[in-house]
Amino acid sequence: MSIVRKIFFLTMMLVLNTQVNCDGNTYSVTDYGAVSDGETDNTQSFMDTWKAACKAGGTMVIPAAKGNFFVNRIELDGPCSGQVTFQLDGVIVAPSGNPYRGSWFTFYSIDGLTVQGSGMFDGNGPSAWAQCPKCSPSIGLYAITNSHIQDITSLNSKGVHFVMVGGDGVTFEHLNITAPSDSPNTDGISMAKSSNIQVVDSYIGTGDDCVAIGQGSTDINISGVNCGPGHGISIGSIGKVEADKDVNGIHVQNCTLTSTQNGVRIKSWAPSYPVTVSNVTYEDITINNASNPIVIDQTYCFVNKQCPGDSQVQISDVKYIGVTGTSASQVAVNLQCSNSRTCQDIHLENIDLTLTEGGQASSNCANANVTYSGTQNPPPCNQ
Ligand SMILES: *[C@@H]1O[C@H](CO)[C@@H](O)[C@H](O)[C@H]1NC(C)=O
Ligand SMILES: *[C@@H]1O[C@H](CO)[C@@H](O)[C@H](O)[C@H]1NC(C)=O
Ligand SMILES: *[C@@H]1O[C@H](CO)[C@@H](O)[C@H](O)[C@H]1NC(C)=O
Ligand SMILES: *[C@@H]1O[C@H](CO)[C@@H](O)[C@H](O)[C@H]1NC(C)=O
Ligand SMILES: *[C@@H]1O[C@H](CO)[C@@H](O)[C@H](O)[C@H]1NC(C)=O
Ligand SMILES: *[C@@H]1O[C@H](CO)[C@@H](O)[C@H](O)[C@H]1NC(C)=O
Repeated sequence: MSIVRKIFFLTMMLVLNTQVNCDGNTYSVTDYGAVSDGETDNTQSFMDTWKAACKAGGTMVIPAAKGNFFVNRIELDGPCSGQVTFQLDGVIVAPSGNPYRGSWFTFYSIDGLTVQGSGMFDGNGPSAWAQCPKCSPSIGLYAITNSHIQDITSLNSKGVHFVMVGGDGVTFEHLNITAPSDSPNTDGISMAKSSNIQVVDSYIGTGDDCVAIGQGSTDINISGVNCGPGHGISIGSIGKVEADKDVNGIHVQNCTLTSTQNGVRIKSWAPSYPVTVSNVTYEDITINNASNPIVIDQTYCFVNKQCPGDSQVQISDVKYIGVTGTSASQVAVNLQCSNSRTCQDIHLENIDLTLTEGGQASSNCANANVTYSGTQNPPPCNQ
C-alpha cells in the first residue's frame, strides 16, 4: 500500500471512529447510516447501532430529524452489558400493510432497559386496518425486567401498541398512545405473565382496551391513566387455554375513562379452564359516558359461536371504591358471574353513576356475592 493510501485509510478510520462513538457511550443511528427520508430501509443501521449500544451498555439515539426513519421488522435482543437506553427523539415509521408476523419492534431479554424521548413509533396502521383484526403489534416487550418506558408516543399501531409477556419490574409512564376509536384490536398496553408493573400518568385512546391485563399477571398498579376512546381498562379474557395462570393483586387508581365502551371490566371465557382472578381494587375512578361503567362478564365468547357451559374462572375479592360519573347505557353496574363459580367478596363502596342523558341508572347481577357500603347509585341489585 502506498504511503498516500495508508494515510488516507488511517484518516478515514479516525473519522469513522469519532463519528460512531463520539460521546462516550452514545450511539446514534445516523452515524451508522440511517437516513430520515421515510424511504431508505434503516433496519440494518438500527441493528448495528443496537449491537454497539447493547455491547457497551450505552445509549442508542434516534435523533430528532426532519422526516421519518423507515424501519422494517426488527428484534433488539439482550442481554446487554448493564443498563441500556433507547433514546427516541425522532419518528420511526413501520412498513405499510401487514407484511410480517409478530411485533414490528421487538425488545427481547433485556434487564435495565429505558425507552424514552420526545419521539414516536408510527405503526402505519391506516395502511393495514382493512386486513386486520389479527395485525402485528407495534412494540413487543418479551422478558424485559427492571425497565422504564416513558414519554414517547405510539401512534396508529397495526394491532396492539405495546404487548408485554414475561415482564417484571416495568414502569410505563407519561406515554401517549393514540389510534382512532374504529381501529381494530389496537389495545394500548396488553400484558400477560407479568409482575410488578406500573402504568402511570399516561394518555391512552385507541380502538380497543386502553390497558388489558392478561393471564398470569400479578402486582399491577395502574394510576393516572386517561383512557378514551377505547374499550376501557380490562382484566381478561382469562381462562381460554389450559396453561392460563391466575391473576392477583391488581390496583387501578385515579383513572378517568371518557366515552369508552367499558369502564372497568373483568371478562372470562365461557367455557374456560379453572383459574382465579382475585385481590383487585378499583379506587377513585371517574367515568364519563361509558357504555358499561362497571362490568364483570363471565360469558365472554366469540359472538358468532355458541357458548355452552359455565366459566370455570373463580373471581373473588374485588373492590370498587369511589367510582363516579355517567353511563351511556341503562345498566351502569353489571355483574354477570358464572353459575358454577359464583363471584365471591365483591364490594361496592361510594358508587355514584347516573345516566349521561340524565336520570337513574340501574344494576344487574347474576351469581354475584356483593356487599355494599356508602353511597349506592344506582341502587344495589335485587337478587
Ligand atoms: C398524542 O400524540 C398525537 C400524535 O402526535 C397528538 O395528536 C396528540 O395531541 C397527543 N395527545 C396527548 C394527550 O398528548
Ligand atoms: C402500587 O402502588 C402502591 C401505592 O402507590 C405501592 O405501595 C405498591 O408498591 C405498588 N405496587 C407495585 C407492584 O409496584
Ligand atoms: C391523578 O392522575 C392525574 C393524571 O391523570 C395526575 O396528574 C394526578 O397527579 C393524579 N392524582 C393523584 C392524587 O395521584
Ligand atoms: C394483594 O395484592 C397486593 C398487591 O397489589 C399484594 O401486595 C398482596 O400481597 C395481595 N394480597 C393477597 C392476599 O394476595
Ligand atoms: C355518549 O356515548 C354514546 C355512545 O358511545 C355517544 O353516542 C354519545 O354521543 C355520547 N354522549 C356524550 C355526551 O358524550
Ligand atoms: C356470600 O358470602 C358469604 C360470606 O362470605 C357466605 O356466607 C355466603 O355463603 C355467600 N353466598 C353465596 C351465594 O356464595
